[in-house]
Amino acid sequence: MSAPNKNYDPVAVSSLSPGEVSRMLDEALAAVAQAGSLEELRAARIAHAGDRSPLALARAEIGALPPEARAEAGRRVSAAQTQLKDALSRRQAELEADRDQRVLVTEAVDVTLPGDRTPPGALHPVTLLADRLSDVFVAMGYEVAEGPEVEAEWYNFDALNIPPDHPAREMQDTLFVAPSSGPGSAGGPGLPSQGSSGLVLRTHTSPVQIRSMLTRPLPLYVVSPGRCYRNEALDATHLPVFYQIEGLAVDEGLTMADLRGAIQAFVDAMFGAGLRTRLRPDYFPFTEPSGDVSMECHVCRGASTDPGADPCRVCRSQGWIEIAGCGMVNPRVLVACGIDPDRYSGFAFGLGIERALMVGHDLTDIRETVDGDVRFSRAFGMEI
Ligand code: DAH
Repeated sequence: MSAPNKNYDPVAVSSLSPGEVSRMLDEALAAVAQAGSLEELRAARIAHAGDRSPLALARAEIGALPPEARAEAGRRVSAAQTQLKDALSRRQAELEADRDQRVLVTEAVDVTLPGDRTPPGALHPVTLLADRLSDVFVAMGYEVAEGPEVEAEWYNFDALNIPPDHPAREMQDTLFVAPSSGPGSAGGPGLPSQGSSGLVLRTHTSPVQIRSMLTRPLPLYVVSPGRCYRNEALDATHLPVFYQIEGLAVDEGLTMADLRGAIQAFVDAMFGAGLRTRLRPDYFPFTEPSGDVSMECHVCRGASTDPGADPCRVCRSQGWIEIAGCGMVNPRVLVACGIDPDRYSGFAFGLGIERALMVGHDLTDIRETVDGDVRFSRAFGMEI
């Protein structure tokens, strides 16, 4: 700042002359008008309205003027600074509005667009059918029982009246986990001591019958879905790993009429009422008598057997579809489980779940159930 000087001519202080102040103002206003972004405006503000700006420096010169000249010079500089301040605020508001507008456009979210869905997954159709089949029996008062997949040979065979040298063991291609320690080994509860003692991957769910009879109070009504294993090559009709569902009832006075009733109720629940069921003699060591259960074909209802009628793929024009094995529990099995066959009788049935799925949905290749292709599950209407 210059020192006060009585003889100082205000008009001669060049930075405070009206022409100079208005030039500084014009320059400042031009810079403000040209600022194309908030950044540029910030720079213009520092350059033209900051502490080191020409106007600020000119204001600092006022003190050097003679007193009578200061007021006028002060008004001139103040007016310029006020005008500049207004221009800065207006430009600031304009640039902010521009920026907000741009953000609205570039960061716009279209809330009507479909979102990205993370597939939640779904239960496999075989699992769903196993649950549904179980539910049918649970609704009739049955309990769900489970057993191990690595099963003692005694439960899988011996207790089911399939002794080691019985040809019926050949009916099922067994996968062995640990060999039997040979003849003379300890049997299971209630069996003579020549029983097998090895471990197998269970070949059917029937050993759960034995486990249920040995551990649950009578009367007994159980259903047991589960995975089974057989040494089979994978082809269109065979799986080495598959699911069965087993039913067992043990009570006083049960007869084949009860078995028939249970089967009919099951078919009604699965395929809708009105399909007939049929039992034909069969052989299973653990039931006597034994039968195979067929139901009337739910697709052609037998019409395909009429001479000249269209063939039916589902029942191969047989009119009937075999769905399960069944029978009255062999008294030897009851005895093996410590149940008095003179007082109690029982019935049992077992069916393959993949096969039931194939029948219900007209599938021709059982391998589709294990391919793991989600389109298979989607075809069952599942959201995956
Ligand atoms: N366990 C038999 C199998 O896997 C199926 C079966 C037949 C189960 C008759 C039963 C039954 O309970 O009574 O071939």
